[in-house]
Amino acid sequence: MTASNLSWPYPKLIAHRGAGHAAPENTLAAMRAGARQGHTMVEYDLKLSLDGVPVLLHDDTVDRSSNGQGRACDLTYRELAKLDFGSWHSREYAGEPIPTLYAIAAFTQANNLCSNIEIKPSAGTDADTGRRIAQFAAQLWSNADVPPLISSFSEPALQAALRAAPQLPRALLLGETVPKDWPERLQRLRCVALNVHETVVTAALVHEVHAKGYKIAAWTVDEPARAHELLEWGCDALFTNDIKPARPDF
Ligand code: G3P
Ligand code: MG
Repeated sequence: MTASNLSWPYPKLIAHRGAGHAAPENTLAAMRAGARQGHTMVEYDLKLSLDGVPVLLHDDTVDRSSNGQGRACDLTYRELAKLDFGSWHSREYAGEPIPTLYAIAAFTQANNLCSNIEIKPSAGTDADTGRRIAQFAAQLWSNADVPPLISSFSEPALQAALRAAPQLPRALLLGETVPKDWPERLQRLRCVALNVHETVVTAALVHEVHAKGYKIAAWTVDEPARAHELLEWGCDALFTNDIKPARPDF
């Protein structure tokens, strides 16, 4: 199969970390809030606990987004489950637990939400995390019509995901620098898309990515004017914290 034949069954808007700023990031409450806002796709960050449970967490440590301390890879799931991942956001979400991929797979599929699983390995665990999360995802979405999009900044993690579950679509995440050899990287990892920082997206880049048969998604776009511009250029999807699908100015 060539890159140009690969399907892209995903919507134009992707709720960043579940519901952007509306709820504590990477929680089941965020997924519910995202769905209530009308989103049909959610992005979330995944890593492994000390005992290998796939949990949603952005940072290496739990310090910023919970009432605990330490690196997730040094804590068992039992220890992580005792922490409060909601109070830092607001009182309404006090007691929100860290979700597992099992819970999120159940919620998103029951509510027809597409998933973008961002593999965020703890330092030094890239290949192992990529392999195991791809295996979990392949199993948990085995009966789904729309597979989760697997993405990562970590090429070793994507390489391991490719080996473990080649049938799952992959996207390479890039920050504010686009390396010249991005097409070779996408080809090597058999990616369908480039997920790139919105500030480096130009009409020319969108054109070039499409000309090579790939899709392009921009993160993270919260200004409606910028969102319009990116979509007019043909950007295939935007990650957002603030834009709601039905907002009249979008
Ligand atoms: O996947 C897009 C975006 O989530 C990447 O950055 O740091 O928010 O995970 P970050
Ligand atoms: Mg992310």
